[in-house]
Amino acid sequence: MSKNTGVLDLHPDRNLAMELVRATEAAAIRAYPFIGKGDKNAADGAAVDAMRAFLTTVDFSGVIVIGEGEKDSAPMLFNGEEVGNGNGPACDIAVDPIDGTSLTGAGRQNAVSVIAVADRGTMLDASSVFYMDKLVAGPEGVGILDIRLPIAENIRALAKAKGKHISDMSIAVLDRPRHARLIEEIRASGAGTRMMLDGDVAGGINAARYDSRIDMCVGIGGSPEGIVTACAIKALGGFIQGILAPLDDAERQRGIAAGLKMDHVYDADGLVSSDNTFFVATGVTDGGLVDGVRRMGPIIRTDSIILRGRSGTIRRVKADHRADRWM
Ligand code: FBP
Repeated sequence: MSKNTGVLDLHPDRNLAMELVRATEAAAIRAYPFIGKGDKNAADGAAVDAMRAFLTTVDFSGVIVIGEGEKDSAPMLFNGEEVGNGNGPACDIAVDPIDGTSLTGAGRQNAVSVIAVADRGTMLDASSVFYMDKLVAGPEGVGILDIRLPIAENIRALAKAKGKHISDMSIAVLDRPRHARLIEEIRASGAGTRMMLDGDVAGGINAARYDSRIDMCVGIGGSPEGIVTACAIKALGGFIQGILAPLDDAERQRGIAAGLKMDHVYDADGLVSSDNTFFVATGVTDGGLVDGVRRMGPIIRTDSIILRGRSGTIRRVKADHRADRWM
């Protein structure tokens, strides 16, 4: 029930994202003391605790579809856990208290704290298959890109649609040995790579933003990150396709048993069927999407981005928090 009207809320409403940003801000602030201290698990643990504590106070009835993992290995924010105070809309929720835990531990750029929300029952639960091959771009890619085509063809098509020369195209890809051939093919096409050490959620969103230097984000990363990215892409009007990439036959069979389709191209609607999505990210370390947490004398400054699928609005929230209340 909505507190104010007594009317049953079936869908997440516009106020929810402004509440959720408190949870990503809290996760980023609590992770801040661990940036560059070499202990990624401590950073993640602090972010998880903070995010969970804030989520319990939010007016919604959320079920975690994408969390820290199965209950046995993740005592908090586990898949299937109910979060929120139960007083609001029924939602699926995906949490990544830190996307880029290694980046945070090492003090590298591009770590973010993320929450995505959609109507209950609309997010694909891809938790049984860890990796997904993804192709993400901005609105110009809709109707012309296809993950099954050679990468050079996709780059050429997107360059044409954007009115850019291929040599000016920047393609983000995770720096992994599995991408050696993909990287060669991107460079052979004439485009340039932008290698990401980690954090392909930020990479995907940067590819879809009109004001970013990245044109496309490609390659194999986490499946959960694919669903989270799709929630943001709905707001940006961008393009996303994903194909599950099981590591072996056992994982493939587990995926099939869980109802997932192998060798199938999931589009934005296949990854999250509702258009009523929210995506919230707060910077942990500095990056192209948002700035990292900064301590400035008596305040701690956070920088967040909030995307709303239904309206397509992008909000940026800079917040100054009193450090004495947090430290
Ligand atoms: P974590 O911070 O949760 O470890 O994820 C970082 C990340 O880089 C994701 O952004 C990406 O989707 C995934 O890991 C890639 O997995 P791997 O490091 O195994 O290639």
